[in-house]
Amino acid sequence: MRVDNKNYRTVWMKDTSVFLIEQNLLPFIFKIYEAKDYLDTCHAIKNMIVRGAGAIGATAGLGMAQAFLEAREDDFWEYIDKAKKDIEATRPTAQNLFYAVNRVYHAGKSSTDPRAAAIKEAQKIADEDVESCRKIGEYGNELIKDGFNIETHCNAGWLAFVDWGSALSPIYVAFREGKKVFVYADETRPRSQGARLTAWELKNEGVPYVILPDNVGAYLMSSGKIDLMIVGADRIARNGDVANKIGTFEKAIVAKEFNVPFYVAAPTSTFDLDCNSGKEIPIEERSEDEVLYQTGLTTKGKMEKILVCSPGSKVINPAFDVTPAKYITGIITEKGIIKPAENSIKKLFS
Ligand code: MRU
Repeated sequence: MRVDNKNYRTVWMKDTSVFLIEQNLLPFIFKIYEAKDYLDTCHAIKNMIVRGAGAIGATAGLGMAQAFLEAREDDFWEYIDKAKKDIEATRPTAQNLFYAVNRVYHAGKSSTDPRAAAIKEAQKIADEDVESCRKIGEYGNELIKDGFNIETHCNAGWLAFVDWGSALSPIYVAFREGKKVFVYADETRPRSQGARLTAWELKNEGVPYVILPDNVGAYLMSSGKIDLMIVGADRIARNGDVANKIGTFEKAIVAKEFNVPFYVAAPTSTFDLDCNSGKEIPIEERSEDEVLYQTGLTTKGKMEKILVCSPGSKVINPAFDVTPAKYITGIITEKGIIKPAENSIKKLFS
């Protein structure tokens, strides 16, 4: 994707460093973060310098590759095993993280040249992510008619992957094809990925949009303003239940009530066949501070963090919720659009 006429991926590796677009500073400051070793890469994932399932996965894979490069001969596998544990402990919900770490680990383990094999596998995961998202765009584009108004939640655009994105990819393909599309981007409290990141991406791509405060969705859907809703996914269970950014479940219930088609877009790397249903998906609890404070740009052009709640209040801050399969019209994958049901999901992997 292009930023100021330059092509970028959200994450890439050069020599022994992993480079990331610093997402905590967007949309105000565009800066590249350099993670010099795997612990730095863990820090970047945990602190959401990089976020979004696919981008977390690609970064975790590259972090694992960094560990292979850093490990010394005398305690090689102890170092690698510890790195695997450290990376897996950064964020618990996005399946892509575990998918990528395991692929890189096993590629290294089964090779006579573990370092080279790990790097090759990590790069392959990042390239596959780009290609899967491009195909999701093509399949999803078939759902979009000229003149459609589309709602999306959180940021499942290219910042949430290596390129293209999942939920936004069909919109980018439709827009580039010349279809008239309009996007309603849910603000997505508490971290406001919709208001900050989705809005920034859409502006860069020239796609017309507005930001929706989180509680406006039902009002708009009830008045027939939304033709289609597309969201991303952080983990999909084998029965088609979907974990995604907190607030998705509410939108899905409202969409069903008002007959708005509700699609999830995700690559097959987000499916977890070991999870029988959404009840088994671990939900990350994040710090109270994300709700109590907001960081933004002052009128003097400085980034500042301010308290926006009654001081001393207690907060609950689950980062994700699970939408049961019965609320989901279909899942857009790189292999086609499927029903959120166990038999369709099994076929994807056969
Ligand atoms: O907490 P985040 O920002 O890493 O959450 C991920 C998301 O952006 C959303 O849940 C998204 O819809 C799915 S990730 C492709």
